[in-house]
Amino acid sequence: MPGKHSTVLVVGGAGYIGSHTTLALKDAGFATVIYDNFSTGHRDACFADHLVEGDLADVAKLTETLERFEISSVIHFAAMIEAGQSMVTPLPFFENNVSGTVSLLKAMLAAGVSRIVFSSTAAVYGNQDGRLTLSETLPRAPITPYGHSKAMVERILETCVQAYGLQAIALRYFNASGADAAGRTGERHDLETHLIPLIIEAARGIRPNVKIYGTDYDTSDGTCIRDYIHVSDLATGHVAAVRYLLDNSNTGFQAMNLGTGTGYSVRQVINTVREVSGRAVDVVEADRRPGDPARLVADVAAARTDLHWSAAQSSLDEIVRTAWAYAEANLPH
Ligand SMILES: NC(=O)c1ccc[n+]([C@@H]2O[C@H](COP(=O)([O-])OP(=O)(O)OC[C@H]3O[C@@H](n4cnc5c(N)ncnc54)[C@H](O)[C@@H]3O)[C@@H](O)[C@H]2O)c1
Repeated sequence: MPGKHSTVLVVGGAGYIGSHTTLALKDAGFATVIYDNFSTGHRDACFADHLVEGDLADVAKLTETLERFEISSVIHFAAMIEAGQSMVTPLPFFENNVSGTVSLLKAMLAAGVSRIVFSSTAAVYGNQDGRLTLSETLPRAPITPYGHSKAMVERILETCVQAYGLQAIALRYFNASGADAAGRTGERHDLETHLIPLIIEAARGIRPNVKIYGTDYDTSDGTCIRDYIHVSDLATGHVAAVRYLLDNSNTGFQAMNLGTGTGYSVRQVINTVREVSGRAVDVVEADRRPGDPARLVADVAAARTDLHWSAAQSSLDEIVRTAWAYAEANLPH
């Protein structure tokens, strides 16, 4: 069980991945505090012992929160997440994701908190076509403002680790998906762009069809391949990362992929939704979208070795089953 100084501040804990992680932290015996401005989060998805409503830009409030609750470690989820939107309006992404993280780091320094786990993304790799799996040793090469914002934060963390002796882990998630198996929380983005929720909306008759962008990729069935990781596996990955920082000093900065190491094509995912739901899903084949790599699959060796973590609930069937059950029980008909 965690020791006495083991209260975790979950910044962005009212969101999709943050809400699942708060549940996993509590299951593991950590005390938890959520800090969130509810720009995209939900009050009924807050499972922490305490909730502070505030914005990343508010250094004084962050500092006061870190001190008041004697925070030992921070997990930082808060960000704008839509890569496509970031191409149209990049500045709010840099402001929230980059400047917001600088505010958080200033507050951590002021409060003497040195451990941070940061939500990074496979988007920092950009387009690495030709590689079967992506390893953390590859150079960062993002191609969207969203990806750049995450790569910049990784660089800032590296710098702060050197300058101030912080300990930082950037967890690079592949495709977060699925929902809590007990149905307590799930994926509820107002602007939904993720594949599995979109297919589920088509199966539930909320949208007429689902679009496949590109059917001529050099993959087994011509559609893009992605590594789908169950959000509850991501959650246990964060618990393992916090433990790792608490148990080891001088960890410096480390980036680690969180994925399964296995890829599925868009058509395979659509077929799994058809099987799990027993519903029809109409498909419209469209042109490729610029910047979509054919294949994004994680090399998962680092997280396995250092965090002793691997995905346990991420079969495609389990992911779709939990996402479907959550949508049927909680999302509009
Ligand atoms: N969902 C994915 O597939 C995926 C993949 C890779 C990385 N990520 C990263 O994981 C993190 C969480 O993603 P998510 O899907 O849970 O997103 P989400 O939108 O559901 O959650 C983000 C949370 O942060 C809060 N927030 C945003 N800006 C804030 C601010 N300025 N001050 C305080 N709170 C703020 C929101 O209200 C929300 O509760 C993000 O950093 C995202 O970039 C997500």
